[in-house]
Amino acid sequence: MHNGTTITQFIIEEQRHISGATGDFTSLLNDIVTACKVISNMVNKGDLIGVLGSAGSENVQGETQKKMDILTNEVFIKSNEWAGHLAAMASEEMDDIYPIPEGKPRGKYLLTFDPLDGSSNMDVNVSVGTIFSILRCPGEGAAPTEASFLQPGTEQVAAGYAIYGPSTMMVLTTGHGVNGFTLDQDIGEFILTHPNMTIPENTREFAINASNNRFWEYPVQRYVEECLAGSEGPRGEDFNMRWIASMVAEVHRILTRGGIFMYPLDSKMKEKGIGGKLRLLYEGNPMSFIIEQAGGAAITGRERIMEITPNALHQRVPVVLGSKNEVQRVLDYHREHDAMDAE
Ligand code: AHG
Ligand code: MN
Ligand code: MN
Repeated sequence: MHNGTTITQFIIEEQRHISGATGDFTSLLNDIVTACKVISNMVNKGDLIGVLGSAGSENVQGETQKKMDILTNEVFIKSNEWAGHLAAMASEEMDDIYPIPEGKPRGKYLLTFDPLDGSSNMDVNVSVGTIFSILRCPGEGAAPTEASFLQPGTEQVAAGYAIYGPSTMMVLTTGHGVNGFTLDQDIGEFILTHPNMTIPENTREFAINASNNRFWEYPVQRYVEECLAGSEGPRGEDFNMRWIASMVAEVHRILTRGGIFMYPLDSKMKEKGIGGKLRLLYEGNPMSFIIEQAGGAAITGRERIMEITPNALHQRVPVVLGSKNEVQRVLDYHREHDAMDAE
């Protein structure tokens, strides 16, 4: 018998503090939780149910889709389209927005998601996750369009992720701090295990795909070089490095013990005319909301991610997030560099 707070209980109690809130929002979060439980089960069964490997198709970003990218996207749509809380959904794995179909009730919220983050890790049995963000649909019942989604991250009502690791966990913010829940597989409930998650301001651990080193801009090269120089360099301390290739897993580690995560702008992206690797609406904004709510910071290198007004559904951005003082240092290095350039 557990005596803990279930995620449903937690959401209902939290909603009582929001004036004018109806049961709609609680109910929407519950449907998202159900979708994540279904995905957790699929991830856990893996090859037993034949879900590993490539689907042989490409998504709008030109990435090869895994079978699980497509299946998890369907799980999210099916779990969230029927209840009447949403006006539309948008996902990394769909070219266009998904308005709630005719014949089903339309609600006041928009949902964006990355149904399977770190999907290249599926086949090698390393942690993957699901990221989501909830926005209000503007325009008083008007039909949602792509433009309805182009709101800065500061407008998010809630954001969260599920991580399918040694335990399945759900981490959630509604703008009042960050709380983590662990799935008890025996009773099928997420139980509050990590109340008020906060990120230490200082860290000695960084995460970046260092194979891109020669393509980075100078400020990022400088930051990483100084970390690598350790106690013999200007930082005067040794640093540790991690790279899991699942943003969810990196963010979860940072929420647990601090750190900095970077997927910066590089010259390969500039050549391709894309602004970054990670997607603003499905990865950048929800993770920034969680990180900031836990006392950390999230920037592109030059500006706060959540203040960007998106110009396209699948817009990509550079991401630098985590422990406040390290993120500030990366920002300072960019500012110094840009100021010298401008002289
Ligand atoms: P996705 O699986 O949703 O496409 O996301 C993968 C992302 C992110 O989770 C991770 O940090 C990064 O891409 C890994 O990129 P590299 O393979 O370039 O290291
Ligand atoms: Mn992703
Ligand atoms: Mn994905």
